[in-house]
Amino acid sequence: LKAWTRAAAKLTTGEAVGTTDSEAAPPTDTGEAVGLEPARLTLTFGFGPSLFTRDGIDRFGLAAQRPGALVDLPPFAGDALDPARSGGDLCVQACGDDPQVLFHAIRNLTRIGRGSVVLRWVQEGFGRTSSTTSDQSTARNLMGFKDGTNNIRADKGGASENFWVPASEDPAWMRDGSYLVARRIRILIEVWDRSSLADQEATIGRRRESGAPIGATDEFHAVDLTAIDSAGKLLVPADSHIAIANQDALGIHILRRGYNFTDGIDARVGQLDAGLFFLAYQRDPRAQFIPMQDALARRDALNEYIKHVGSAVFAVPPGTAVGGYIGQSLFA
Ligand code: HEM
Repeated sequence: LKAWTRAAAKLTTGEAVGTTDSEAAPPTDTGEAVGLEPARLTLTFGFGPSLFTRDGIDRFGLAAQRPGALVDLPPFAGDALDPARSGGDLCVQACGDDPQVLFHAIRNLTRIGRGSVVLRWVQEGFGRTSSTTSDQSTARNLMGFKDGTNNIRADKGGASENFWVPASEDPAWMRDGSYLVARRIRILIEVWDRSSLADQEATIGRRRESGAPIGATDEFHAVDLTAIDSAGKLLVPADSHIAIANQDALGIHILRRGYNFTDGIDARVGQLDAGLFFLAYQRDPRAQFIPMQDALARRDALNEYIKHVGSAVFAVPPGTAVGGYIGQSLFA
């Protein structure tokens, strides 16, 4: 982690992670980002439950430090998880504007960690789906809908109580950190593309073009789950995605910060392997992601068109101080 901290400081400013001084040795930086801007690269690191305990075994003497909130996620209805794309002791999230810069970052961190860590899975994503400040316009996911309308916005409050671990919570090393839940959610694109616009909108509970809740005209109009049409039918169907995930009704708020993904085709069925790499930050998955996903997995009309195929949870420690290292609050 100390070596990664040194490298991360260089990577995020667009510098090479080392200089090649000997023709006889492999280059210390792999070179593909030379001449490129840092592309707003950010690196976020997290620790998975298995770093602390796996099958009841205290692998690295860290078991006593495992946060209560860092639970193994329970199975949810409809899960079709691939173990090869799930879990992990550590996670590195590289975000930025240039895929070549991101690849370079992950490749060099992997190379620096060789001998201590190995890659378990990698998910590339694009087109960040959730806006997180009010000055951003809401991007669309691969279903064509605006995604992130009703998300926590850093400049509008809600951040501190919903996604930063507060000073009152144990373990102390996680204070000012957050918990990340990652779900690789396949969208059954061909099925979605064959359903009518009315069906699609009823499934989400919003209009596709404007992003407004059905029955409203503006994207940011409040969602009214009781509004009815002239025939007495609910405008936002009770089983629609935004009705079940309604954060005010559930009393749960999470910070969604997902990306679209595509990994070519699923050759078994000759269909696009694409979807939403759902990422959500929160202060306690037991009180936030788990009950929310439990409700969605049971009742969400969207389930006809999606499949959760990968899953992981990580404790993301607080940011690194100048001169410090990633995860210092845990290991110091
Ligand atoms: C492929 C899977 C998914 C798609 C395509 C999707 C899409 C959407 C869309 C289009 C909206 C409406 C716009 C907005 O407010 O952002 C929305 C809202 C939301 N979604 Fe999802 N979503 C997916 C999975 C999930 C999952 C797994 C969760 C959490 C467990 C989740 C939680 C939410 C929440 C909390 C809202 C806002 C509800 C509110 O109005 O308070 N979504 N989603």
